[in-house]
Amino acid sequence: MKRNTVILIVGIVAIAFMSYMLLSIGTKKSEKMLINASTPIVKEGIEARNDRWAKTYPRQFDSWKKTKKSSEIIDLVKKYPQLAILWAGYGFSKDYNAPRGHSFALQSNRNTLRTGAPTGANTGPMPMSCWSCKSPDVARLMEKEGEKEFFTGKWARAGSEIVNPIGCADCHNSQTGELQLSRPYLKRALVSSGRKLEDITYQEMRSLACAQCHSEYYFLKTPYKDKKGVQKTAAVVTFPWEKGLSAENMEDYYNSFGFKDWTHKLSKVPMLKAQHPGYEIFTTGIHYKRNLSCADCHMPYTQEGGVKFSDHQIQSPLNNIANSCLTCHRQSEAEFKSIVEEKLKRKDQLNVLTMNNLAGAHLMAKKAYEKGATNAEMTKVTETIRSSQWIWDYSIASHGSFFHAPEETLRLLAVANDKAQQARLELTGILAKYGILNYKVPDFSTKEKAQKLAGVNLNKLVKEKLSFKSKLMSDWIDKASKEGRLNKEYLKGLPDKASYPQ
Ligand code: HEC
Ligand code: HEC
Ligand code: HEC
Ligand code: HEC
Repeated sequence: MKRNTVILIVGIVAIAFMSYMLLSIGTKKSEKMLINASTPIVKEGIEARNDRWAKTYPRQFDSWKKTKKSSEIIDLVKKYPQLAILWAGYGFSKDYNAPRGHSFALQSNRNTLRTGAPTGANTGPMPMSCWSCKSPDVARLMEKEGEKEFFTGKWARAGSEIVNPIGCADCHNSQTGELQLSRPYLKRALVSSGRKLEDITYQEMRSLACAQCHSEYYFLKTPYKDKKGVQKTAAVVTFPWEKGLSAENMEDYYNSFGFKDWTHKLSKVPMLKAQHPGYEIFTTGIHYKRNLSCADCHMPYTQEGGVKFSDHQIQSPLNNIANSCLTCHRQSEAEFKSIVEEKLKRKDQLNVLTMNNLAGAHLMAKKAYEKGATNAEMTKVTETIRSSQWIWDYSIASHGSFFHAPEETLRLLAVANDKAQQARLELTGILAKYGILNYKVPDFSTKEKAQKLAGVNLNKLVKEKLSFKSKLMSDWIDKASKEGRLNKEYLKGLPDKASYPQ
């Protein structure tokens, strides 16, 4: 009798507690539904115009607009002149800056000397794929034209269509407001790496929204027939994830079909360019292993009156340590800043050593060819330089890598540096064979000197770019605004900045 009473009481308490928990989860869910399932922005299709979302989601819109504040240009070729040597013969040796706020994505893309100075829809050095990570108009146009059709033709073809910088429809569904992946190539990449799309959790979505762009990719040439039956070739953005997400996995993948992004102008090495494997390297770090997502640090919850929402001013979390780190950590803001700064300095020392050795290897290889070295003699050196530079690039190209995954970044820098040293040793031997002892590579200590060695004619490129901006580019903006795709007001708040004087 006594025992039954105890069981009964324990049972009642347990049921009451569980009902309370269920109720509170239910309430949280319904709050979330309320926030997410307001009136659709448009009844069908994709709404790429960010200002059309403002009325329904004013807080997210206002905080998103603040990405305008991060406008400063940090010219990385000036800061690290070695880069012009490492990328000789490739666009990045012309112009390469640190990332700015999402609001600037299109301005940066149009201003960079890498996209050249087209004079019409079918001219210029770059393909359509170069718009992929810059605008919700990409998702809109892919839906309208078809993905392969989107990836066909020159960059200049869609200048008047792709006009709204990274925004709501890149990450949210225009009918339900829910988080979604707007880029089909990320979905394909996840499947190719062995993931099942239906198993993806909500917490993962808060990182995968970013992985749509902050990932490594290449352009896969894909033949197809268009609607009229005409044979075409698309340059389709593809993630090299089939063998795994590490630097070595991707290197194996690229080597398996002899892929190269370009041939190095000085050393003749068939090179790989890492883009920004930010998501990939993040997954090797402690924060990922503890189940954090990109949004936890880069979009922390904030409070406005009684309303809690995600801060859409995506930026370096070091500008907002109180909200983005101190929710979990106990240090003071100043202490945390100095810890992170000290860590960054250590990485930078190793980064500079590696770049110097690699740049030296390219210049020594050039000398060896000039003296008559044969392709057969250079085979091993060529492979070593290719591998070294890929691994170096993977380790630092995503900018935040050292914070996201410190051990992996240092491991890769050490491996890359060792390979660069091996290449230089081998080259010392080859040069000696051709009578060159103690070869001193030319001075590449400033941007001007390094670009000269890399054959970059900066003045000419800038002149052509300025002409493009005042003619074709200006027509694009006028057309888009006249045809209702762009609200020109938005551009007014964006200072026009570049790495060159304009
Ligand atoms: C780069 C991707 C990205 C962009 C761009 C973006 N969002 Fe979000 N948004 C997110 C993520 C991630 C969350 C967090 C989802 C969660 O945890 O519920 C979120 C949450 C939201 C929510 C749910 C409530 C909240 O604040 O957590 C709303 C509403 C929203 N965003 C609206 C917008 C609007 C409006 C824009 C354009 C001005 C926009 N978002 C741009 C990624 C993005
Ligand atoms: C549609 C593509 C796209 C998506 C989605 C995207 N980004 Fe970006 N992100 C970019 C590009 C491009 C830049 C560089 C813009 C520039 O320099 O003009 C950038 C810049 C940044 C920067 C640098 C900002 C600064 O002020 O220095 C951070 C941090 C960042 N992104 C984090 C994120 C996070 C976190 C997410 C997911 C919530 C995300 N991004 C989603 C393309 C994207
Ligand atoms: C634990 C917190 C945390 C998480 C989680 C996190 N980041 Fe970061 N991120 C940082 C910090 C801190 C920095 C600044 C470090 C620095 O200056 O090198 C940074 C820097 C960056 C930068 C470079 C910004 C710039 O202006 O140079 C980008 C881009 C970025 N993160 C994207 C991402 C993406 C994408 C994810 C998810 C795959 C992610 N971050 C996850 C804390 C985080
Ligand atoms: C949601 C909780 C959470 C947030 C937010 C968070 N961290 Fe962490 N952090 C952790 C956890 C958990 C660990 C791992 C502790 C362990 O297991 O050793 C960690 C580890 C660290 C470490 C030591 C490991 C390493 O990578 O060197 C540093 C430094 C750190 N965090 C800095 C930051 C900074 C800076 C921010 C803000 C940009 C931040 N964290 C945001 C939870 C968080």
